[in-house]
Amino acid sequence: MAESVEVMHSEAEVAKRVEELGRQISEDYAGKQVHLICVLKGGVFFMCELAKRISVPVSMDFMSVGSYGNGTSSSGVVKIAKDLDEPLEGKDVLVVEDIIDSGRTLSYLLEILKGRHPKSLKLCTLLDKPDRRIKPVKVDYTGFEIPDEFVVGYGLDYAQKYRNLPFIGVVKGVE
Ligand code: IMP
Ligand code: MG
Repeated sequence: MAESVEVMHSEAEVAKRVEELGRQISEDYAGKQVHLICVLKGGVFFMCELAKRISVPVSMDFMSVGSYGNGTSSSGVVKIAKDLDEPLEGKDVLVVEDIIDSGRTLSYLLEILKGRHPKSLKLCTLLDKPDRRIKPVKVDYTGFEIPDEFVVGYGLDYAQKYRNLPFIGVVKGVE
């Protein structure tokens, strides 16, 4: 069977959901500036689209974390490959992620960020696979809860491919 991608959430569905999230975040952060932290690389498409839908002042920073090992699951050992440029002290921080799977990456990352004394710290994820959770993570904003399937597109990759797909899909025809 040849490798192909089946649509799970269409471009229009994702756009609608991102708009809703942007509206909700704008309400919740009324009168404040929200400091978005993008977890590279997967979170970048979502963060850009989300930022455009937020009507309160926005600042942004980027960080890259990797769990050792590759393939389709994380090992639980997380390293910071690129740290933030700016301190978090006194900021209303919103971490923007592509997907929460086992929760290992985010539970580790949130602990680190908490130690930098932001005024507030919340988490927004485009996708959540709650059935896969090993480490509990408090998620404040979720785009879609999805079943335990390996998804690509909208920033998410399979072996670095498919990040540029404008929808969320499931890869078929791979082991
Ligand atoms: P966690 O530490 O297990 O929650 O893994 C989080 C990271 O694993 C995500 O930020 C993604 O980079 C990657 N990941 C988990 N599930 C998927 C998926 O279905 N497609 C693509 N990447 C995934
Ligand atoms: Mg990620």
